[in-house]
Parts: sequence; structure tokens; C-alpha cells
Amino acid sequence: MIEVRSLTKRFRGCPAVEDLSFDVRPGAVTGFLGPNGSGKTTTARMILGLTDPDAGTATIAGRRYRDLAHPLREIGALINPGAVDPARSALDHLRWLAAANRIPVGRAELVLGQVGLDAVGGRRVGAFSLGMRQRLGIAAALIGDPPVLLLDEPINGLDPEGIHWIRTFMRSLADEGRTVFVSSHLMSEMALTAHELVVIGRGRLIAAESMASFTARVDSSVRVRTPQLDVLAAALEQEGATLWRSGDALDVVGMPIEQVGSVAARVGAVLYELSPQQASLEDAFMHLTAQSCEYTAAVEAA
Ligand SMILES: Nc1ncnc2c1ncn2[C@@H]1O[C@H](COP(=O)(O)OP(=O)(O)OP(=O)(O)O)[C@@H](O)[C@H]1O
Ligand SMILES: [Mg+2]
Repeated sequence: MIEVRSLTKRFRGCPAVEDLSFDVRPGAVTGFLGPNGSGKTTTARMILGLTDPDAGTATIAGRRYRDLAHPLREIGALINPGAVDPARSALDHLRWLAAANRIPVGRAELVLGQVGLDAVGGRRVGAFSLGMRQRLGIAAALIGDPPVLLLDEPINGLDPEGIHWIRTFMRSLADEGRTVFVSSHLMSEMALTAHELVVIGRGRLIAAESMASFTARVDSSVRVRTPQLDVLAAALEQEGATLWRSGDALDVVGMPIEQVGSVAARVGAVLYELSPQQASLEDAFMHLTAQSCEYTAAVEAA
């Protein structure tokens, strides 16, 4: 469990994080979303005691990071995967980390296997690809077998296979009952990964809720394609849907996909496509974060 309360940080008078409060609970992947420069890394650094807040607190299992007796056994973090001596082998890096934190050195091999790097443990980290470095960073986060994980933009720069691996891995860590807090500026990626969301814009909280309730806020649409376009359009409008024609397809707003399918069946329309339109989620994020920027800009101008 991570608890953030009224966290505030200014850099040379400019607010980076403003009165931010939220909880991150165990057994779920919580996505920490915000545009570039919205304060995600600053918040992560304050949780980890790397940056001192101007006001507010951040605690892990009820204690501040600096008050944890064995921090790596309480919270594992990936903030800057580049911060590894390039001359050292992956295994030596992890063994050193374990030894320095009174963690059994045998965990080094174990976590290396967990992230799929066992075959290259003896290689210099300097020769690692970006994806391998991210995996090593995650192995380091796991070295103390912590119940809480905080990963700052772990998918940055990864190829589709690497992204898929991280997504599956984060979910499996949450399924084990861990608290998994992962930041990203990519809404579409989080939609596939996170159960819960904390959304910020300009350092302020915009939403802290489940992915399901966040998406429910959005007027999502359903795309239908049928050779009986006019018949189906008339029937859908009669049932109260709002329609947008785009070429040979219809975008249906304000009606659940099941109902669209049922209406199509009732009027005997053959469906070539019946699909939820995910883009609206990205739109909601853009819309909400844009509003917050305007709000902040107005306050600054006042
Ligand atoms: N050490 C620092 N000194 C001065 N300003 C800083 C410092 N660290 C962050 N900032 C500023 O604080 C704001 C928030 O930055 P932060 O890095 O936390 O955002 P972010 O959400 O992690 O962005 P990104 O998606 O680009 O990683 C930005 O305006 C940034 O320029
Ligand atoms: Mg950042």
C-alpha cells in the first residue's frame, strides 16, 4: 500500500506537484498517468525519499521511505535503468545490490531468471540493449522480494515484444498480491495493463479510480458496418442512439455494444463489423488533462 497525502513540490517557485493525494492498493496494477512534465517522476522520487516534498507525506506500508528498516524488502523501484556501472556484469550488479542490503545473494540468479536474463547474466551491462537494461532494472527492483513495486515509465523505448512482456509480468506481480504502481504517458498502453488509475495533469490530481469507472466517464462509441446501413441507422436512432456516418460505417454513441448488436439482429442487418472504439479513451485523457492545463494556466495568470 502506498499512501500519498497532500504532496506538494515546487521547483524555483514553479509547481511540479500540487496537493496530491491518492492510495495505491495491493493486488492490482495501478497506472500513474499524465502528460510529459505533469509530475509523475517527481512524485515517484518523493515516494522513494529521493526528493524532499515542500509539504505533504508519502508512505509505504504506513512509513516514510527513510524510516523503513530494509527498504529494498519493502519497495522495489525502477526510476532510471541507465544507472548501472556498464563494466559490471548483470549478475554482479544484482549480487552487489543484494549484499549491500543484507539480502541473500542467491536471489540475484532467481530474479535474473524471473526477467528472462539468465542466459546473459555474465555479460557486461554496457553491452545490453535498452530492453535488456529495463529488464535488469526490474530484476533489481525485485531483489528484496518486495510487496510494493514502483516503476517509472518501464515501457519507454521498448519494442512490441518487450511491451507485451512487461505488461504480462506486471499483471502477474499484482496477481501475487503485490502493489504495482507504474507510470506512463500512454493512455492506450495503460488501458491494456492497469486495473486502477491515478491521472494527473500539471501536478494536480484529475482522477483516482478504477479503469472501468474511468472509461465509463467517456462517451465511448461503437463502430458498425453493414450493407443495410439505412435500415440499421433508422432503428438505432429510434432507440435513442446518436449516429455519425463515416464512409460505409456508422459510429454509434450513447448505446452499449450489446444493444447495438440486438437492434441489428432485430432488423435483420448483416454485420461486417461491430467493435468498441478505443480511441475515445485516449480522447478522454487528452480532454481531462487539457482542462487541467487550462485551469492551471488561468490560476497562474490571475
Ligand atoms: N530537478 C528539477 N529542477 C527543476 N525542475 C524540475 C526538476 N525535476 C522536475 N522539474 C519540473 O517539474 C515538472 C514535472 O516534471 P516530472 O519529471 O516530474 O514530470 P513527468 O510527469 O515525469 O514527465 P515525463 O513524462 O516527461 O517523464 C516539469 O515541469 C519539470 O520541468
Ligand atoms: Mg518522468
